[in-house]
Amino acid sequence: MAAERLRAAGARVLDLTLSNPTRAGLAYPEAEILAALGDARSLRYEPTAKGLLEAREAVAAWHARQGAVAHPEQMLLAASTSEAYGWLFKLLCEPGDAVMAPRPSYPLFECLATLDGVRTVQYPLLEELRWGVDVAELERHLDERARAVILVNPNNPTGTYVKRGEWLKLQEFAAMRGLALIVDEVFFDYAWGEDGRRVSSLEGPHLALTFTLSGLSKIAALPQMKLGWVHVAGPEELRREALERLEWIADSYLPVSAPVLHAAERWLEWTPAVQEAIQERVWRNRQVLGEVVQEGSAWRVMPAEGGWMALLDAPRIHSEEEWALEFLEQYQVLVQPGYFFDFQREALVAVSLLTGEEEFREGLGRLSRIFRPV
Ligand SMILES: Cc1ncc(COP(=O)(O)O)c(C=O)c1O
Repeated sequence: MAAERLRAAGARVLDLTLSNPTRAGLAYPEAEILAALGDARSLRYEPTAKGLLEAREAVAAWHARQGAVAHPEQMLLAASTSEAYGWLFKLLCEPGDAVMAPRPSYPLFECLATLDGVRTVQYPLLEELRWGVDVAELERHLDERARAVILVNPNNPTGTYVKRGEWLKLQEFAAMRGLALIVDEVFFDYAWGEDGRRVSSLEGPHLALTFTLSGLSKIAALPQMKLGWVHVAGPEELRREALERLEWIADSYLPVSAPVLHAAERWLEWTPAVQEAIQERVWRNRQVLGEVVQEGSAWRVMPAEGGWMALLDAPRIHSEEEWALEFLEQYQVLVQPGYFFDFQREALVAVSLLTGEEEFREGLGRLSRIFRPV
């Protein structure tokens, strides 16, 4: 890769794509995190298919503190949301069936679905709706073997939240078509401001089978600890059957590591501190972006509502690939071209707002000539 070649030649490449919170220079309470792993109960192996009840209760209590209702008995713990996606594909699909996946979005869906013999069929998020879901558009793209619709709330990398009106239409559509809704809310806590229209998929009405996914990767910035969860809601009969089958699937994989399950409650207690540190980082980097990409520039910072990413709309004199390569070769700054997330149009460039503040400022400083007003 070009960045590695440049680094090998001695260049100081500034990486504005950092998405790993454990490398972002955040002040973690390290001793407490490690101490939580030393619970003596972890010395016993007491597997339960859904995952330790106390840990599910801790997750539900955490959701309650955020103002959402999750029921421990309607929840299963997994090693990650990625594992939970796999369980849901097994639950909902026969080989050759399809799941509808948003475009642009998180690029892992196709890979995860393929591993389960399931096809992903994309439906577009509309730029005119600030990358929101248009149900008519979803219907136009609906595969006849589709079993579920995936949503990312807020979407990565566009930072768009699902709104109440949209949620109701999606529920009605999914119920009418016998589709399940799979809603990935790993970034839900990282809103950049208030907006009463936003809704978590934990909120009803649950007319269709609804799966909400989240985990410690983003909410506690602990991806290495490997704990995710899936919450099941929906009409009682469907929900009961889905939970029974999911329990069977989860049981086949055996439970999440006991030290992690026993530590979860304590880790969840300090999420406000780490989330605050991340929100501050994101806010400062957005300020820098606003200072460097000024009004009158041929570049534009795309509006967004939350998450850890920012998108820049680039003048289309180059493709996004060419822009990313120019940044790297000429300025030794690493960014992501929009096609990583499958944007339908040129030319978008993504930067991670989790990047250390100094690196972010210096990186954008190197590029400031390009962003200058024309
Ligand atoms: C939208 C989204 N979902 C899930 C994940 C991964 O979560 P986990 O570590 O729980 O598999 C990511 C990681 O970047 C993500 O962006």
